[in-house]
Amino acid sequence: MTMTLNEAMEARHSVRSYLEKPLSKEAYEELTKEIEDINLSTGLHLQLVTNEPKAFSGALARYGSFSGVSNYIALIGPKGKDLAEKCGYYGEKLVLKAQQLGLNTCWVALTFKKIPEAFVIEKGEKLVMVIALGYGKTQGTAHKGKKLGELYKAEGNVPRWFTDGVYAASLAPTAMNQQKFTFLYKDGNVEVKTGFGVHTDTDLGIVKYHFEAGAELPGFFGL
Ligand SMILES: Cc1cc2nc3c(=O)[nH]c(=O)nc-3n(C[C@H](O)[C@H](O)[C@H](O)COP(=O)(O)O)c2cc1C
Repeated sequence: MTMTLNEAMEARHSVRSYLEKPLSKEAYEELTKEIEDINLSTGLHLQLVTNEPKAFSGALARYGSFSGVSNYIALIGPKGKDLAEKCGYYGEKLVLKAQQLGLNTCWVALTFKKIPEAFVIEKGEKLVMVIALGYGKTQGTAHKGKKLGELYKAEGNVPRWFTDGVYAASLAPTAMNQQKFTFLYKDGNVEVKTGFGVHTDTDLGIVKYHFEAGAELPGFFGL
């Protein structure tokens, strides 16, 4: 039985060491289909790269403690101010889908090499970062994070769906585990703010996806 989105969010942890095992046919087909759907509806140009070990070989990958990575999703799209946030949102949708398909993942902004022949960047587009994926040697471990109360501010009582959403956001990956986001609740409205940090715009998209999944309000933020 497929795990639910909530189960996938609980089970997901960054994994950096992978088995030398190609993606199953089912996993490949499901991810390819999901990517096609996302690209069609958003104008992003996300691409699944398989059997390509060069991006994660060499000193940079070792420095980042990566091993055995030969599959990744290249997060590419038209340059613009919301590109990183959109890549965060739809990239995390794919991360949780991968988890449901029995795969492990890790967001990677820095410690990989760009291999130009592995993906297509059209004129006016940009590669934001990649998501490594495959069968992990382990399932990873839960990150230590901020307390729930540090992740939101509210006026008056908050409904259960809001705290469920914030809890789901607390499970989300963020660059260097910085968790620089705050959810604000007032009279049924929700906003999210980010502080200063690296890749906080990508983190914002990621935590919005988790919030919507936890609150069971798909599409709430209209990304
Ligand atoms: C936008 C973003 C960029 C990241 N970049 C890297 C990276 O370059 N190298 C790396 O090893 N991990 C990277 N990570 C993984 C984070 O370190 C990891 O998500 C965080 O420590 C929380 O751990 P968890 O994913 O196991 O919950 C990145 C995560 C995000 C969300």
